Amino acid sequence: MPEMQATYNYTVIRQFSVMAVVWGIVGMLVGVVIAAQLVWPELNFSPYFTFGRLRPLHTNAVIFAFGGSALFATSYYVVQRTCHARLFAGPLAAFTFWGWQLVIVLAAITLPMGMTQGKEYAELEWPIDILIAIVWIAYAVVFFGTIAKRTVSHIYVANWFYGAFIIAVALLHIFNSAAVPVTLFKSYSAYAGVQDAMVQWWYGHNAVGFFLTAGFLGMMYYFVPKQAGRPVYSYRLSVVHFWALIFTYMWAGPHHLHYTALPEWTQSIGMVFSLILLAPSWGGMINGVMTLSGAWHKLRDDPILKFLITSLSFYGMSTFEGPMMAIKTVNALSHYTDWTVGHVHSGALGWVAMVSIGSLYYMLPRLFGKPEMYSVKLITVHFWVATIGVVLYIASMWIAGVMQGLMWRAVNPDGTLTYSFVEAVKGSYPFWAIRFLGGVLFLSGMLIMAYNMVRTIRGGQRVDAPVLLPAAQHA
Ligand code: HEM
Ligand code: HEM
Repeated sequence: MPEMQATYNYTVIRQFSVMAVVWGIVGMLVGVVIAAQLVWPELNFSPYFTFGRLRPLHTNAVIFAFGGSALFATSYYVVQRTCHARLFAGPLAAFTFWGWQLVIVLAAITLPMGMTQGKEYAELEWPIDILIAIVWIAYAVVFFGTIAKRTVSHIYVANWFYGAFIIAVALLHIFNSAAVPVTLFKSYSAYAGVQDAMVQWWYGHNAVGFFLTAGFLGMMYYFVPKQAGRPVYSYRLSVVHFWALIFTYMWAGPHHLHYTALPEWTQSIGMVFSLILLAPSWGGMINGVMTLSGAWHKLRDDPILKFLITSLSFYGMSTFEGPMMAIKTVNALSHYTDWTVGHVHSGALGWVAMVSIGSLYYMLPRLFGKPEMYSVKLITVHFWVATIGVVLYIASMWIAGVMQGLMWRAVNPDGTLTYSFVEAVKGSYPFWAIRFLGGVLFLSGMLIMAYNMVRTIRGGQRVDAPVLLPAAQHA
């Protein structure tokens, strides 16, 4: 309906975008603090500010507060622009913003107090879990409602990824968080023993696959072509990518439970599906990177594109490394070591954070009606500081991890252990210090971004507000 005018709802996107930067800083600051605690144990202030209590605060803040806000912001932006329709149910969209912020604040209070369900990435106690479920269902209504009222017949592939992310996370959260409450602040899992572990890592791995990947692939499919000024490399590949990825991810969870009480065949299924996962992951990564074919020169002086394309390189790296670590004999070495932590952050910092940062830099001036970011130079500085930070982080963790694994398994000819555990801890110190430095660099980049964002919002004239464009004019 070309005569229909679409006025987009940017308010909620502005709110989520600004908060993504704020929570990024908070979450990474906590990351830097816990990294420092591993180097200087005196920094553990009992009981609220110990490593054990701050670590889940870090993971929750970076994944759900930073990553979550970036996902809400970009999905609301992309779904409106590509459906040529205003966000469905405006007040409900506002509720998702305030509800999600409330979840984050409650997490920030309860986790340092030691209230936890003890399930990694699903620590929050049952009343907060119920709030999450309500906010998430509201999110689904807003997102799919917008798709339903679209004024173009096509549903662009980025929306498929966002849609799968929203549905899968609802499913994972509701099943994994099923619990029997004892008091307002304490509950026990509805599952017992090894079943509980299996459900938890079915959740845990799909949190990686859907929360930390599918939604961010939605970002890739919209913002890479936009910033590169070229159509996506292969639309057909993107459809194959979508179905292959969502089918395969669901089966890979048991690779977190190698050599446990979980039946052997289940572990093997997890391993095999993880290896298969390499194909769709790389298919998607190549599709994103090749979007630049014929326009590689743009990488030279466009720091936003640098963020986006570098994030895809890290995505490729971590999705090659993951399947390798899922091989049982490799996992026998890597499990429990810093290698896992290095893998996590090559995905989390290199892929998730960098693709979000690139997408936010793309959106911010448009959301606030400015011609461009206050300083493109500062984006370039941010890019280099962040890239050096990630490289320091992951390289130090790889070395430390392999060293730890080898030291733990080394045996003397008489069968006794060559090294005591504390010797491995001592050997890890220099690498933990390098990781701390990498974290400080990455965090500094976020502070530069916050400054650039504030100057962009405050400075200059708004150029295109309110956004009122004929539907057929843009996507
Ligand atoms: C093909 C894709 C991937 C596969 C097959 C894979 C596989 C693995 C394996 C085998 C582990 C170690 C499990 C253990 O020893 O306990 C692991 C840990 C982890 N991976 Fe990946 N990975 C993939 C991609 C990613 C990506 C892209 C991210 C982040 C964005 C990520 C985040 C994580 C996290 C957070 C953990 C740690 C879980 C924990 O123990 O708390 N992975 N992954
Ligand atoms: C300045 C940046 C960051 C620093 C300094 C940092 C630091 C840390 C540290 C020290 C740990 C604990 C490692 C251990 O237990 O030995 C950790 C764990 C973790 N971090 Fe970060 N982090 C940062 C950013 C991020 C981001 C942006 C994400 C996700 C988007 C993330 C996700 C995680 C996850 C999932 C774990 C748990 C890993 C596991 O269980 O294997 N981190 N981080």
